[in-house]
Amino acid sequence: MREMEQRARRAYKEKFGEEPDLVASAPGRVNLIGEHTDYNGGFVLPCAIDRRIAVAVGTGEGGLYSADFDETRQVVEKDSSWADYPRGIAWAMDEAGHGIGAFRAAFAGDVPLGSGLSSSAAIEATTALALDALFGLGIGRKDLAVLCQRAENEYVGVNSGIMDQYASLLCDAGAALLVDCRSLEAESVPLDLEGAGLALVVCDTRVERGLADTGYNDRRAACERAARTLGVKELRDATEGDLDLLSGEELKRARHVVSEDARVLEAVEALEGGDFDEFGHLMYASHASLRDDYEVSTRELDAFVEIAEEYGARGARLTGAGFGGCAIALVSEGKTAALAQACEQAFAEHGFEEPAFYEFVPAAGAELAR
Ligand code: GLA
Repeated sequence: MREMEQRARRAYKEKFGEEPDLVASAPGRVNLIGEHTDYNGGFVLPCAIDRRIAVAVGTGEGGLYSADFDETRQVVEKDSSWADYPRGIAWAMDEAGHGIGAFRAAFAGDVPLGSGLSSSAAIEATTALALDALFGLGIGRKDLAVLCQRAENEYVGVNSGIMDQYASLLCDAGAALLVDCRSLEAESVPLDLEGAGLALVVCDTRVERGLADTGYNDRRAACERAARTLGVKELRDATEGDLDLLSGEELKRARHVVSEDARVLEAVEALEGGDFDEFGHLMYASHASLRDDYEVSTRELDAFVEIAEEYGARGARLTGAGFGGCAIALVSEGKTAALAQACEQAFAEHGFEEPAFYEFVPAAGAELAR
């Protein structure tokens, strides 16, 4: 059992006085490329990270306990806390006609919270997998991911796409996951960073993503308007040639989405050919497009990407929704400490928050603990 799985199990035993029926865990994610494409029916390429949220579950009353916050919440009432995620899963299962009985649960995890590494998808995915097993529902992984997205959209009330839940439930260790967000087909793409002597460095800029919700919804609305103007179902169906018919905000947003979809497919080809130089170029191009056309970058994210480039990173870009949060870089293994140090210094000189750094390896998706 992983460390956080053991903690969840111990917490359950302390809280409810008996062993749990089962323990599950699910990871957070970084997105390698394909940003703001999921809700346009396009392509994304995330990978799961080796930070997870675990849950120990059993049948019966007793509530939802978080070992990290040391607090218990009841299963029923929505209260705008972390407990809305597991409640949302129970709600979505019920809505979908899957009969689940009373359950109690203890959670423990090490996914950094609120920095855009999808701790919310991790808690949804681990709850969904655990309840599926506890009540013998036999729901497949993809359907569980769709159910998690429904919980997030309709119960929690955050209008996100499908990427994070897919990554948390479907990624394989040592691989990225190419998702076609229209057909919901997904395939693993081997990502042998170690073999290429590369490290995946994540810089958490520690910027509050305060405007994230409005900004995110505005971007979605602009994409929908652009698709309507072009007479296509979603921007996934638009071509570069179509862009001539747009102007202003709609043009910029659509240009990002159309070019980003193309970059994801090129990035997969590059990975399959082991061409990390090409992959890196595509990451930089993605960042420029998110900065200039989609306008979701920040001074901190831009600064990290610039410093990464100076330090010879193969590629770097913001990851996730933007408006703060994290950026990633693919760096030669020996250079990660120097990059972090240079970045810390530059951030201090600019008067930015002190950043946090992580190094992740592409990890496995949600699993029942053995
Ligand atoms: C957030 C959402 C995802 C996706 C990204 C942007 O992480 O949860 O669905 O839209 O932003 O790519």
